[in-house]
Amino acid sequence: ADTFDDECDYLFKAILIGDSAVGKSNLLSRFSRDQFRLDSKPTIGVEFAYRNIKIGDKIIKVQIWDTAGQERFRAITSSYYRGARGALLVYDITRRRTFDNLAKWLKEIKELGGSDIVILLIGNKTDLVQAREVTEEEGHRLAEKEGLCFMETSALENLNVEGAFLQLITRIY
Ligand code: GTP
Ligand code: MG
Repeated sequence: ADTFDDECDYLFKAILIGDSAVGKSNLLSRFSRDQFRLDSKPTIGVEFAYRNIKIGDKIIKVQIWDTAGQERFRAITSSYYRGARGALLVYDITRRRTFDNLAKWLKEIKELGGSDIVILLIGNKTDLVQAREVTEEEGHRLAEKEGLCFMETSALENLNVEGAFLQLITRIY
């Protein structure tokens, strides 16, 4: 049998969504294997990663589905949401368009996600200080209005990445 079945107490599924190139795949590679690539390719369809997290004396295995932001690579969207307990909804603080598009993503989560899905809003790329187009305050305000958790991150600098995933897992658990 798969060793995780014996060793982990809980298995959670979470999904990464948001516009193309906001940094979903790099947030995941940072979280799952501490890697970052400046030249990463757009995700086609969906990719997966796992990580075990210890909370108290329990081991939680998180299965994360990293989805394609590009419309043409998103074929079977509804199946991505099946069984997902959490969603990391990511925008790029240097591109306002990705923030404006959050309404579209929230609509999709509400249509396809479960009624009790935990949503964490993430403003990524805080290292690009000069290029910022969306303030942290705007992120906070939207999160408050929609009842979401919120964090700003930098996958490049490894800032708040662990904290974001841990917050989501703690909320689910
Ligand atoms: P799709 O798979 O097309 O949906 O895109 P994605 O959201 O997975 O974006 P991806 O992780 O591939 O990153 C897109 C680009 O942004 C890459 O060039 C990354 O190196 C860059 N990037 C990701 N996170 C950060 C960050 O925190 N800071 C900076 N400066 N660049 C980042
Ligand atoms: Mg990707």
